[in-house]
Amino acid sequence: MKKDITSKADIEMLVNRFYDKVKVDDLIGYFFTKVVQVNWDKHLPVMYRFWDSALFFTGVYEGKPLEIHEHLNQLSPLSVEHFQRWNELFTQTVDELFEGEKATLAKDRSISISTVMQLKIFKKNNLPAS
Ligand code: HEM
Repeated sequence: MKKDITSKADIEMLVNRFYDKVKVDDLIGYFFTKVVQVNWDKHLPVMYRFWDSALFFTGVYEGKPLEIHEHLNQLSPLSVEHFQRWNELFTQTVDELFEGEKATLAKDRSISISTVMQLKIFKKNNLPAS
């Protein structure tokens, strides 16, 4: 049986494995390698803090992911399919490595945040020009 996510080391493993997949993904990889040339030495620790806060309510992440993705959408348009792939890869990575209450919470949180991002990005784009 797999274990649950219980430590910072677990979060690091999850985040590292997830971005290993994302980077080479045919549908969304280019956002990280071409649209933004992500500095992984900086981005990975930000993501460790993000998931630490999301799963253990530690408040160590301070950032504005919604604004950052709206900006990304302006650099290169995001689509529903992009978000679906992101969520598919994230869920797949969690399921490969962990199971339990926090593993389920991670998957639920990723889907709800993704939904909010999409509402914000796509609704705004669909508003008539004023
Ligand atoms: C189509 C889907 C997505 C794409 C292509 C994408 C891409 C990116 C990129 C390129 C960055 C910037 C990295 C940098 O500048 O160093 C980023 C940052 C980030 N992403 Fe996403 N993302 C997606 C969905 C999501 C979702 C669903 C979540 C949350 C569950 C998320 C959480 C974050 C966070 C927390 C950051 C860091 C923001 C900060 O610097 O504070 N992303 N993403």
